[in-house]
This record gives sequence, C-alpha cells and structure tokens, in this order.
Amino acid sequence: MTIIAPSILAADFARLGEETRAIAQAGADWIHLDVMDGHFVPNISFGPAVVKALRPCTDKFFDVHLMIAPADPYLAAFAEAGADAITVHVEAGPHIHRSLQTIRALGKRAGVALNPGTPASSIEPLLDMLDLVLVMSVNPGFGGQSFIDSSLETLARVKAMTAGRSIDISVDGGITPETAGAAASAGAGILVAGSAAFKGGPDAYGKNVAAIREAAQSATGRDGVRC
Ligand code: DX5
Ligand code: ZN
Repeated sequence: MTIIAPSILAADFARLGEETRAIAQAGADWIHLDVMDGHFVPNISFGPAVVKALRPCTDKFFDVHLMIAPADPYLAAFAEAGADAITVHVEAGPHIHRSLQTIRALGKRAGVALNPGTPASSIEPLLDMLDLVLVMSVNPGFGGQSFIDSSLETLARVKAMTAGRSIDISVDGGITPETAGAAASAGAGILVAGSAAFKGGPDAYGKNVAAIREAAQSATGRDGVRC
C-alpha cells in the first residue's frame, strides 16, 4: 500500500502541534519533517527541539529528512527527539557510510536522499546499509515547486537496483494528485507532499490526503502492484 507522508514544512508554523495532529487524523500515514540549515539548502526550517516538541502530538512514524551539512553531529539529537527514520543527503558529506551506520546504531531506519541531479548509481555502494531511499523530485529547499519529470527515471532505476531488498522508496517534491500516479508507477511507495496536503486549511486535509492516495492507487492497483 502507498504511504502518504505530509511534510509539515507546508503547515502553519504558528500552530505546528495542532497541524500535526490534524494531518494525522486526516489520514496521513507518516509525518515528514524537513530540516534545513541555510547552508546545504538556501532555507532554514527547524531543528531537533521542534521534532521533540511535536513527538507527543501523534504516534505516527516520524520521517526526518535532513537537508543539512554536516549531518553527523546532529544525528543523535534527532534520534533522541523522536525520529523513526533519519534520511541524509548523499551529496551532504564525504562519509555517507558513517552517517548511515550511525543512524542504524541509534536504532533508527537509515535513509539516503538524492537530489534531482544526482545519478541513481550513487546509492549502489550503500545498498546493504539502507532502509529508505528518498528521491527528490525538486531541488530541495522550498515547498511549492514543480515536479521534475526526470526523477521518474531515477525512481525506476532505484526500484530496479533495490529489487529483492527491504528498502523503501520515497519521492519528495511537487507531489500532487496530478503527479502522484506517475511517481507511484515508477516505483515510489512513499509519497511526501507538502503544499498539496496542507492546502485549504484543516477542513481540507482529509480530502487532500485522500486525493493523493487515490491517484497513486489508481495508477498502481489497490495493492500497490503495477497494472
Ligand atoms: C523540499 C522538501 C519537501 C517539500 C515538499 O525541500 O524536502 O519535503 O516540503 O513540498 P511540496 O510538496 O510543496 O513540493
Ligand atoms: Zn523532504
């Protein structure tokens, strides 16, 4: 089944706790938390204190996406704050194996993210240490950008490379009911959506999440298998 992971980057930051509860009750499977440092990406969002503050708001899986460099000095803080998965960018530092080993040693699922310009082959040396691959379908830093079509090819390559392994594939950026079907068909089992999940305020969240799920499932079949 497709997992829908709304990004709270698109939520009302003045009411983050309520927003997290509302999107969880509206049918989100995971909560995606986008951490930005103003250095690896040209925007600053929030850090481990916010993740910790939101942890009591829901028991949903916390999918923490670190767009920071270096990431290693902060991994323990995000684990302690309540992350369930921690994803680091393959472009963010020279010691990606060390980062992934550290995340697993902290008892969390280890993910690696690929920018749209990074070839799928960059994860080849990492396959034994990965629980999650996050394919960026926009250049990271901001919500509300348009889906980059070449990420479909990256998703398909990642899908082929990870066949037979228990590695989740996620897509992040520009996911809407219009793009979700193609992303799911190309191999994404987890759809991260910011703007499309949070548009219209809390009364619309249920409808927004359902529309993304419906688009993915009608493209892939109810059981997530391509038809
Ligand atoms: C991009 C972030 C995304 C972003 C998605 O830098 O990693 O998670 O919030 O937002 P939308 O769905 O609006 O493209
Ligand atoms: Zn993200």
